[in-house]
Amino acid sequence: MTPLSNLAVRDVETLIHPYTNLATMRESGPLVLERGKGIFVYDSNGKPYIEGMSGLWCTALGYGNEELVEAAAAQMRKLSFAHLFSAKSHDPAIELAERLKELAPVPTSKVFFCNSGSEANDTQIKLVWYMNNALGRPAKKKIISRLKAYHGVTVASASLTGLPANQRDFDLPIAGILHAGCPHHYRFAQAGESEDEFATRLAAELAQMIEREGPDTVAAFIAEPVMGAGGVIVPPQSYFEKVGQVCRRYDVYMIADEVICGFGRLGTTFGCQSLGFAPDSISVAKALTSGYVPMAAVTVPESMYQALLVESRKIGTFGHGFTYSGHPVAAAVALKALEIYARDRLVEAAAQKTPQFQARLHALGQHALVGEARGRGLIGALELVADKATKRSFDPKSGVAPGAVRFAEEEGLMVRFLVGDAVSVCPPLVITPAEIDELFDRLGRALDRTLDWVRRERLAEET
Ligand SMILES: Cc1ncc(COP(=O)(O)O)c(C=O)c1O
Repeated sequence: MTPLSNLAVRDVETLIHPYTNLATMRESGPLVLERGKGIFVYDSNGKPYIEGMSGLWCTALGYGNEELVEAAAAQMRKLSFAHLFSAKSHDPAIELAERLKELAPVPTSKVFFCNSGSEANDTQIKLVWYMNNALGRPAKKKIISRLKAYHGVTVASASLTGLPANQRDFDLPIAGILHAGCPHHYRFAQAGESEDEFATRLAAELAQMIEREGPDTVAAFIAEPVMGAGGVIVPPQSYFEKVGQVCRRYDVYMIADEVICGFGRLGTTFGCQSLGFAPDSISVAKALTSGYVPMAAVTVPESMYQALLVESRKIGTFGHGFTYSGHPVAAAVALKALEIYARDRLVEAAAQKTPQFQARLHALGQHALVGEARGRGLIGALELVADKATKRSFDPKSGVAPGAVRFAEEEGLMVRFLVGDAVSVCPPLVITPAEIDELFDRLGRALDRTLDWVRRERLAEET
């Protein structure tokens, strides 16, 4: 084991890292990044990596974009902070809300700004509860999420998240949050069930869940168009249409969590448009500012806005909001990012690059380690398995997916391992065709090295 650098020692002694094994990282230390340009980031030794995950699914415009830098600097010089509390306002927030209303794939009356995807989804829950109180149906409060969903880590959004690590020993989920089945055909379809039959069954199970709980107690359903952190799970094409019919039948408010899929990731402006999902509201974040500064937003339909007005008349205020809701610097960066997406036709470009990206991804599905290659647009994952024929997973203790990610880093590629041994890719939308080839060449080499290691250490054997 090589001794840790001075910077690494300072890190280990001072930082708590999110989503990190805090015990093993005391020995391994951190990978310290220093700068970025285009789709590349560089570590503190100057080694370049293709950022194959857009950071955390967010830097759609890549690194070092001078237009975004300038938008932030100009806004900081002009008005570095202003809030929206107590009827105060400012130009960037107004303009961004207008722009999001135009872009939104759902009828939108107003926009509420937050700073993170978690806050956006927390806000969604609070708005639904608040609305149903205003509408005189105080029992209609339960929220249905899905197993393997990822909606954030605050107390309420972590409750929506359907992944064990986000709940275990955190005393979550809170009451009133339910989890429906995960639409992952490869893992959860019954023998011989087609994608469409699987979707029909999931919709029927959702209806049964609502009936069992009592339709008068179920308020909302939230879903990512393509599930991200749960393993990049693309639902059957008919899934959202069928699930949507169930929600409408029981007057269940539908929320699309567009935190990853929003702004072009699937080759459409919003992910719901790609999957026939017609929600009542969307949550956006990440690519809204290309990750340059934190910002998120929630869209509010007119019917909900009317309910909020009723409450304001009764209570005297709308008692929700963050210091940095609609932060002018974040709003200025978001406006610039949206301008660039439109000007450079990046959504169309993502759609054009999709066949090459998905072909290279799916070609790796032939690899001996890969049980399933899956994706849509410029996002994908490879699920690593110990036995392709039986879909048997590796023993989690063998650390095969984390090992593959380490080999990829050695090859100069940042990817992530997700639950279920999925290795994910989600590069900046500005990636070029030549860079897509280079990304998958590096990923292929990393998989070959992983396979050599798995065979050497006999990690695929049944224990
Ligand atoms: C779909 C989705 N929703 C919500 C979140 C939470 O966002 P944040 O980490 O900004 O709170 C994420 C984060 O990855 C996400 O992928």
